[in-house]
Amino acid sequence: MSLQQEIRRLTAPDIQARKKGEPIVALTSYHAHTAGLLDKYVDVILVGDSLGMVMHGLETTVPVTLDMMILQGRAVMRGSKKALVVVDMPFGSYEESPQQAFRNCARVLKETHCGAIKLEGGTLMAETIRFLTSRGVPVMAHIGMTPQSINTLGSFRARGRDESEWDKFLDDARAVADAGAFSVVIEAVAEPLAKRITEEIAIPTIGIGASPACDGQILVLEDMLGLSQRVPKFVKRYGELAGRIEQSIKDYADEVRARKFPGPEHTYPLKKS
Ligand code: KIV
Repeated sequence: MSLQQEIRRLTAPDIQARKKGEPIVALTSYHAHTAGLLDKYVDVILVGDSLGMVMHGLETTVPVTLDMMILQGRAVMRGSKKALVVVDMPFGSYEESPQQAFRNCARVLKETHCGAIKLEGGTLMAETIRFLTSRGVPVMAHIGMTPQSINTLGSFRARGRDESEWDKFLDDARAVADAGAFSVVIEAVAEPLAKRITEEIAIPTIGIGASPACDGQILVLEDMLGLSQRVPKFVKRYGELAGRIEQSIKDYADEVRARKFPGPEHTYPLKKS
């Protein structure tokens, strides 16, 4: 019996079935080791294109490439056994046409073995989502504040804080649900709007800065661990790892300079004859 048969990985339909049920727990991961730590506790691991900013120090997610996503998607799949792994489609890899989207999504599914992809956009991407889902590609949609559009949006500010903006986001949510997405990430929107969307659509909403009204929550792992210098208001820091890592590095450097490390317990003596 293969390992895959022993531990059944969650699937996109499993997550879709959680609408109005037990809250969906999701976090990002880009590496095998963090994926292994997360796997026991979360339902969904997102290989987010936030890796461009978090791992590579980019200003935005726009320069992230398909090859970067595939490399980290493979690592996360190797490190996890149980959670549904969703890989983000980067900017420029799906917007041109449904055919372009299918070609690149198929590459991601084939080369990473992940269970679903995520793409940004609402009404505008509905035709593409329908094309993909009817051809075997499970799609997690992403609406609200969509970071890949930063150059047209102008800022990462929260959306829907003024009711006059609501129609667009409600239309987006209805469009992606009708097109066959199995869930939708809602990023940085006012609580009453997230609540209204969650009540209206039949697929689970996964909030990031979108209030407890959503069917689940997601955060960027490094943000909640205290490894990112600046984080948005919606992030709760569950750890302050940056300080602890820095202290460990300082201790190591001090001990090497003082010739205290390596000690006898870290050193190979000759074999006893
Ligand atoms: O790229 C990412 O990490 C994301 C989450 C913020 C939802 O899209």
